Amino acid sequence: MNIQALLSEKVSQAMILAGAPADCEPQVRQSAKVQFGDYQANGIMAVAKKLGQAPRQLAESVITHLDLKGIASKVEIAGPGFINIFLDRDWLAAQAKQALTQPRLGVAAVEPQTIVVDYSAPNVAKEMHVGHVRSTIIGDAAVRTLSFLGHNVIRANHVGDWGTQFGMLIAYLEKQQNEHHEAIALADLEAFYREAKRTYDEDEAFAERARAYVVKLQGGDEYCRAMWKKLVDITMGQNQLIYDRLNVTLTRKDVMGESLYNDMLPGIVEDLRAKGLAVTSEGATVVFLDEFKNKEGEPMGVIIQKKDGGYLYTTTDIACAKYRYETLKADRVLYYIDSRQHQHLQQAWTIVRKAGYVPESVPLEHHAFGMMLGKDGRPFKTRSGGTIKLADLLEEAHDRALALVREKNPEMSEAELQQLAEVVGIGAVKYADLSKSRTTDYIFDWDNMLAFEGNTAPYMQYAYTRVLSVFRKAGVDVDSIDAPLAITEDREAQLATRLLQFEETITQVARDGTPHVMCAYLYDLAGLFSSFYEHCPILSAEDEATRQSRLQLAALTAKTLKQGLDTLGIKTVERM
Ligand code: ARG
Repeated sequence: MNIQALLSEKVSQAMILAGAPADCEPQVRQSAKVQFGDYQANGIMAVAKKLGQAPRQLAESVITHLDLKGIASKVEIAGPGFINIFLDRDWLAAQAKQALTQPRLGVAAVEPQTIVVDYSAPNVAKEMHVGHVRSTIIGDAAVRTLSFLGHNVIRANHVGDWGTQFGMLIAYLEKQQNEHHEAIALADLEAFYREAKRTYDEDEAFAERARAYVVKLQGGDEYCRAMWKKLVDITMGQNQLIYDRLNVTLTRKDVMGESLYNDMLPGIVEDLRAKGLAVTSEGATVVFLDEFKNKEGEPMGVIIQKKDGGYLYTTTDIACAKYRYETLKADRVLYYIDSRQHQHLQQAWTIVRKAGYVPESVPLEHHAFGMMLGKDGRPFKTRSGGTIKLADLLEEAHDRALALVREKNPEMSEAELQQLAEVVGIGAVKYADLSKSRTTDYIFDWDNMLAFEGNTAPYMQYAYTRVLSVFRKAGVDVDSIDAPLAITEDREAQLATRLLQFEETITQVARDGTPHVMCAYLYDLAGLFSSFYEHCPILSAEDEATRQSRLQLAALTAKTLKQGLDTLGIKTVERM
C-alpha cells in the first residue's frame, strides 16, 4: 500500500473539484510534528494564490470535496493552506493485515521496465580497490530494489578490458609463462601490472613486442585473443570471490566490458562525421559541443578518435549507450560511477542525443557518488600511502567483527562465531556506505560502522533478532501467525503507519537510486518498534486477542526489516 500516492490522488481530485487546475500537484506527506498515523497535504497555498482565493477558503472547499471515507477518521485545516489527515485505525489495521498476508508485503506490482544498471566496473589485470567499492555496493542495492519491484534488470559490468595497455600485458604474461613454465595465478595483480609497466619502460625489445601485440589483438589474432582472454578470466575470477563475499549479485554473465563495443567504434565515428557532428581537427576526429565551454570560453572539443587511429573512453561510452538502447532495449539506464566522471558522461550523452542514438524518452542517469575518505578526511589509503585492496579490507572487517561478537557471545561455538562475524563485518562495511547520502564523500571509520548503537548494520541486524526473540519466547512461528488485527493504542498506530510506508520508501529508492533513504526508514522503524514494545506489552498483554494482534505487528516488523535489509544486500541472522 502506497499511502502517500493514495492520499495525493484523493487530495488532487478534491482540489480539482474545488476549482484548481487539472495539473495541480499537492504534496502529501507524513507530518513531522504529529506522529500518530497522520499525514499533511501541502500545495494548496500556491494554487489559492493562482486562483486569487484565500488559502483557508480553498482548503475548506477542498475538505468538503475530499472523499476519504473509511481511510481517514478526521480531516482538519491546520494553518493557512494545510490539511491534516488522520488515518482511520480500522483502515490501518486492515492494511497491515493485508501486508502481512500478501506476498511481497503487499507492495503493488509495477509496470515492468527494462533497466540497465552499470556498476562495479573494475579494470583487467588490476586489483579491485576501494574506489570500486561504492559503485559495487550501491549499484547492487539499486539492482535488488528494482528487481524486487518487478523490473527486468540487466546488470552491466563495464569492465576495463580493452586499450593499448593490453599489448604490454600480453607480452608480460607470455614472459612470465616462459620463465615459470606453468600457468601463473596472477595472485598479485597489482604487482603484475607494475612489473609489466617497468619492463615496458626498460626493455626496448619487450616494448616493441608489446606494440606489435596491440595491433595483432585488434586485428583478431588468435594467439593474442587467447592471451587476452586469460588475463580477463584470471582477473574476473578473483573479483568474483569478492562479489560473493560481499553478497553482491554480479556474476561472470554480467561482464559487458569495453571490448564488447570495440567493433562498433569505426561505424560510430563515420556516422558522426556523416551527420556533421564530428570534424577533423589537428589530425584527430573531434566533436565540438556548444554545451561545454573550454577555458577560453569556446565550444569544447571532445576527441573521439586520436590522430593515430586509437579510440577513447568517450567513444566507447557513446557506443555503449547506443547498444543498451538498441540491442538491450533499455527503457532506462543507470550509471553508478564516481562523481569525477560526471563531465565525461555528460559529454558522451550529449553526443548520443544529438546523433539520435538514444531518444530523450529513455533516461540516461548518472547516479554519482563521492569519494571514500580516511578518518583524516583525505582519500582512503594504507598507512604507507598505497591504495587499499578490497580483499584486505574485507578480511579486516571480518576480524574486527569477530572480536566484537566473541566478546558479546562467550558461549557461542567457534563455527557460529565465524559465521556471525562474516555477516556483521561485511554488513557493516556495506551499510556504512549505503546509509550515507551517496552524492557526498564519506569517511570510512571502523568504530562507527561496527557500533551497536546508531544507524549501523550491527544495530539493524540486532534489532531484527530482538523482534524474532519475541516469537521464540511466545513459542509462535513468525510466518504462520493468523488472527484478527486491531489498532487501538497510539504506538500501535504509529508503528503500523511506518510499516505501511515500506512501499513509498522503496518506490522513492527505485526512482532516485538512494539506498540511504531505505536505511533511514529501517532505522526509524526499528526505533518505533522499541517504543511500541515498551508501551504495548506483547507477551504480557491484558488479553489473548491483544497479544495475537500485537504479535502480528511484530511479525510485520520482522518481515519488513528483513525484506528492507535484503533490498540493500545486507544479510540477517536469527540470533546474535
Ligand atoms: N572502469 C572504469 C574505472 O575504473 C569505470 C567504468 C564505468 N562505466 C562506464 N560506462 N564508463 O574508472
